[in-house]
Amino acid sequence: MNKHNISLIGFMGTGKTTIGKILAEKMGYDFVDVDEFIVKSEGRSINDIFIEEGEEYFRDIETNALHKILEGKNQVISTGGGLVLREENRRALLEGSFVVALKASPRNIYFRLKDCDERPLLKGAHPEKTIRTLLHKRYQFYNKNHMSVATDKLSVDEVVEIIIKEIN
Ligand code: S3P
Repeated sequence: MNKHNISLIGFMGTGKTTIGKILAEKMGYDFVDVDEFIVKSEGRSINDIFIEEGEEYFRDIETNALHKILEGKNQVISTGGGLVLREENRRALLEGSFVVALKASPRNIYFRLKDCDERPLLKGAHPEKTIRTLLHKRYQFYNKNHMSVATDKLSVDEVVEIIIKEIN
């Protein structure tokens, strides 16, 4: 484990980006969002990448992006919710960073995401059901971490404080 990088993993809508930005500021670290890194290097949105190339292609560039990012130091890294699907990525995260899993209930995730148009995997007719199905499949992968925080009853600042205490 390497505490010069802190990675946030967890399902879409668990607050990785919001919490990551504040955590980075408080620690004096850079904030790096893997999805943003991909959008910049590909010059198109995550939605467009999924539509034009499909999920496997996205997973390949996501894996490459993660490896590049982990070469850096003193970063809070916000990962896409599906990045941990690949064993290779889970290993790279656990070796190259302190991995924090953010957890939230399917209900809360649904309410946080229901008006958002930028999640290609939730575009079907029953997003809440999709959230439950995906969460069920991914649960085991979010459990490969150095610490996990149940965020449902906490404010963003409280989550950040809990993480900082654990790191110090
Ligand atoms: C995905 C999560 C998204 C993004 C893509 C796929 C997933 O990131 O990488 O839409 O498979 O859960 P966020 O978790 O930041 O929303």
